[in-house]
Amino acid sequence: MALLNIEMLGAEVLRRPAEPVPGPSPELERLIRDMFETMYDAHGIGLAAPQAGLSHRVIVVDVGEESRPPLALLNPVITQSGAERDRHEEECLSIPGITGTVERPTTVVVEGLDPQGQPVRLEAEGMLARCLQHEIDHLNGVLFIDYLSPMKRTILLKKYRRLAERDA
Ligand code: NI
Repeated sequence: MALLNIEMLGAEVLRRPAEPVPGPSPELERLIRDMFETMYDAHGIGLAAPQAGLSHRVIVVDVGEESRPPLALLNPVITQSGAERDRHEEECLSIPGITGTVERPTTVVVEGLDPQGQPVRLEAEGMLARCLQHEIDHLNGVLFIDYLSPMKRTILLKKYRRLAERDA
């Protein structure tokens, strides 16, 4: 296993729609293992392949709930969104140090393939629903800061740049 380098805000790959993956393969299995390891190492609850510099439609998620074991999905798509929405703080391993409150549907249905290539249909709510939406956004080149008001985004990005300069 190997830790993957996490791409940071500004990387072009984070803004590009990712390519569908053809199905299971040894390379993909290795990628998924490495993505889990990288996510846990960074104390994240989700990671999308573009964050590892790979423009593939692959996500891993572990919201740490006993009833919801760690999950890897190939080519995941949100096929239904509930009408109810709520607001919650989000973070992103590609924009470390800042949090923003994002409004999203509280329930979603996600369909895709598991790492063995079997079709999966998942009804999710709460933190899992939010996390899946955040990670699937990554596959479409969307980041959580895109949902914030322009003023809020400007303030957060200023803070982010200050932190990034400090840590450089
Ligand atoms: Ni993220």
